[in-house]
Amino acid sequence: MQYEIINQNKTAPGTKNKIITSMQRDYYARDGFLVLKDFIPAEVCNHLIKRMKELVNTFDMGEIQTIFSSKNPAHANQQYFLDSGDKIRFFFEEGAFNEAGKLAAPKDLSLNKVGHALHDLDPAFYCFSRLNKIAALCHDLEIADPQIVQSMYIFKQPHFGGEVTCHQDSTYLYVKEQPVTGLWIALEDATMQNGCLWAIPGGHKTPLKSRMIRDRNNRVCTQIYDDTPWPLEKMIPLEVPRGSLIVLNGLSPHMSKENVSDKSRHAYTLHVMSAKHEFAKENWLQRSDDKNFSSLL
Ligand code: FE2
Repeated sequence: MQYEIINQNKTAPGTKNKIITSMQRDYYARDGFLVLKDFIPAEVCNHLIKRMKELVNTFDMGEIQTIFSSKNPAHANQQYFLDSGDKIRFFFEEGAFNEAGKLAAPKDLSLNKVGHALHDLDPAFYCFSRLNKIAALCHDLEIADPQIVQSMYIFKQPHFGGEVTCHQDSTYLYVKEQPVTGLWIALEDATMQNGCLWAIPGGHKTPLKSRMIRDRNNRVCTQIYDDTPWPLEKMIPLEVPRGSLIVLNGLSPHMSKENVSDKSRHAYTLHVMSAKHEFAKENWLQRSDDKNFSSLL
């Protein structure tokens, strides 16, 4: 199995085998993000891409037409989305359906993302998400008792993957004591043409500007604390080769532009928090089974 290549690397958490140097830790504290190239080998990227292809092929979409769009968040009040915290669910790109309600392109080229519990429910993503190397990275980042809040597979389809507007992940996954940490893994090269991440160095020092709240009636709304626009001119592109991992502080403002190329930009993301902290009960993502988030160790 491909994962053994990485796990043999003696990177068990708590050992002296550090994944990041103290200088990289300083960069992360300064910038709010950190790029780690060559984090996983190409074979592992291929393995996850192949597994997702299988999941998409067996996905029977039936009446499901839930679109995910950061510009038009109508999905936020759809039950299919609200219940997806402990399931594997499929979300389409804006514009994927024609006026007759039919997909305009093949299913595998119409999806925006799959979320939010691949790490719990699919064996391939389960094992990958619990690699020693990822646990050791969380140890280096001082996330005590790390647990996985959500996972997403993002397609960023060629000529179709839409823009994700500038945001802080803590808007969606709020943890008071220590912001949620995003681990963004490039399964394919991420370039300015196909929609790489962009982030504002030091932007994580900005207080949280908004929160997406699920109320007692299961209605989702956004509370705005600061409506000044993000200084987008300060954004820098994080172009990375496949196999790279980008660590993102939950308060770091980041975005991705639309994919204007003929190449997809597949990525797998995890959001991690310490089990010692409290996941806000007003967050949109709640597990319907009332189980705790699963440990990363
Ligand atoms: Fe994000």
